Amino acid sequence: MAVLITGGAGYIGSHTLVELLQENYDVVVLDNFVNGSREAVRRAVTMIGGEVRLIEGDVRDRQLLNRLFADHSISTVIHLAGLKAVGESVRQPLDYYSVNVQGSLVLCQAMQDAGVRELVFSSSATVYGVEAPVPYRESMPRGLPSNPYGTTKAIVEHMLEDLCQADPSWSVVFLRYFNPIGAHPSGEIGEDPRGIPNNLMPFISQVAAGHLSELSIFGNDYPTEDGTCVRDYIHVVDLAIGHVSALKCLSSPGLYIYNLGTGRGVSVLEMVAAFESLTGKRVPYHFAARRSGDLAAFWADADKANRELGWRARRSLTDMLRDTWRWQQRHPAGYGAP
Ligand code: WQD
Repeated sequence: MAVLITGGAGYIGSHTLVELLQENYDVVVLDNFVNGSREAVRRAVTMIGGEVRLIEGDVRDRQLLNRLFADHSISTVIHLAGLKAVGESVRQPLDYYSVNVQGSLVLCQAMQDAGVRELVFSSSATVYGVEAPVPYRESMPRGLPSNPYGTTKAIVEHMLEDLCQADPSWSVVFLRYFNPIGAHPSGEIGEDPRGIPNNLMPFISQVAAGHLSELSIFGNDYPTEDGTCVRDYIHVVDLAIGHVSALKCLSSPGLYIYNLGTGRGVSVLEMVAAFESLTGKRVPYHFAARRSGDLAAFWADADKANRELGWRARRSLTDMLRDTWRWQQRHPAGYGAP
């Protein structure tokens, strides 16, 4: 029996693929390559060995999914396919509802018809909403996310809860990611944002590499120690291992929720200083206006995953920055032409 990873050629997907191959899982990847890359899958297989069946297609394509479930014996789905740029979700909300919500709905319908009822869903800390106290705990109710991207994640969580209520034979895990950064320590797999990065880590590393001139730090008047926002950055390899750990719950039906974070907050200025001291590169920056929708500070209570799955984030901030920089230096154009 195989595990299907939707979005398996993307940033989190390709790192999850590596960890699954390492544990000898038989894997099928479905990706439409809007944000993912064939090369990431190829490198994962070259590095670890094993065989991956790679299918190009969209998660909203019901006929394709029907064929996929008919042709491959899938026991479990790790559903990562989706759009993830917060700013873009504000400008083009319908794309986000279509890909993230409709995509998850079509996938679940196809799974139901195929008799596949084990699902790991890629969710986000953003579902705790703008008013939640820190640290975020899984026992807290969902709140109002501050952007359409977050709303789509919350809607899919609702949908899956209703599904588990209606049919208790499903096993579903929500993994609520905090801020994944870093790259595989080999330097061969990493984050390859299209165009100018929206997120802090790839922006910093492209400034350090001289591809971008200066970092804009969005706001220095937040109620935090140094005035800049605080986030819980987690190494993408730890996050990927979290998915493999989550597969263990699926043997018993039910709904499980886990935060995947380190439990520690780091400010934007701390990130810049740590990156400069590790790489010896300067990261010029200036303070700019706050970015709309940003929260001042949040981080995870990550104890539940540790208690129940035996998982915890083991890699340090230094590991995250060093691996990001190695990937940036080895593959300055990402998976594109060198
Ligand atoms: C981090 C901090 C910015 C860029 C988002 C999504 C979240 C998750 C991960 C996934 C913030 C500041 C950033 C820059 C800056 N989703 N910043 N200058 O917004 O915490 O989380 O990505 O797919 O759901 O919301 O991450 O990396 O964009 O920002 O000052 O050029 O860095 O203001 O405080 P964020 P981020």
